[in-house]
Amino acid sequence: MQNDIQEILISQEEIKEKVAELGQHLSKEYEGRNPLVICILKGAFIFMADLVKEITVPIELDFMAVSSYGTSTKSSGEVKIIKDLDSSIEGRDILIVEDIIDSGLTLSYLVDVLQRRNVKSVKLVTLFDKPSGRTVNLEADLAGFILPDAFVVGYGLDYAEKYRNLPYIGVLKPEVYSS
Ligand code: XMP
Ligand code: MG
Repeated sequence: MQNDIQEILISQEEIKEKVAELGQHLSKEYEGRNPLVICILKGAFIFMADLVKEITVPIELDFMAVSSYGTSTKSSGEVKIIKDLDSSIEGRDILIVEDIIDSGLTLSYLVDVLQRRNVKSVKLVTLFDKPSGRTVNLEADLAGFILPDAFVVGYGLDYAEKYRNLPYIGVLKPEVYSS
């Protein structure tokens, strides 16, 4: 698996430090409140697990699964809800936890869907952001790292469902895509 990686863009230590920073920021932001933290599966599962340990206010959590990519590396523009939330979110402060924003299509759709459920507030935290890929007007309220326009894997992110368990963010060797 490590042999398929061309370059490590962000190390395990750098990610750990950044996630702690984001957690501290969110703890201040949600002081005195009780947000519902929503993990967007599957990519955000590692970020979610590490992030919530750094949040010091009481939270509840839930999971949502959406698909927009299939196994290719380009967005299809279509978003499908594969798993919805377990309960009503009416009146709640919602924090969406995403792994990476590229075109913004997935999140702009999701934010829209959640906002229509009469929530109190919706905020969005992403660990990785590729602003150069944007095709819609969508910004995260909080973003960890700005990435170049390259397809990355690791720390929850996959290529054809592989490499999610790499502890760092890396770029695959070109021959991995063509084989
Ligand atoms: P959009 O384009 O809708 O994309 O903002 C969001 C979703 O696309 C996936 N994505 C990636 N997955 N490496 C990945 O493994 C990447 O470089 C990458 N860029 C986008 C991801 O699932 C995200 O939720
Ligand atoms: Mg994802």
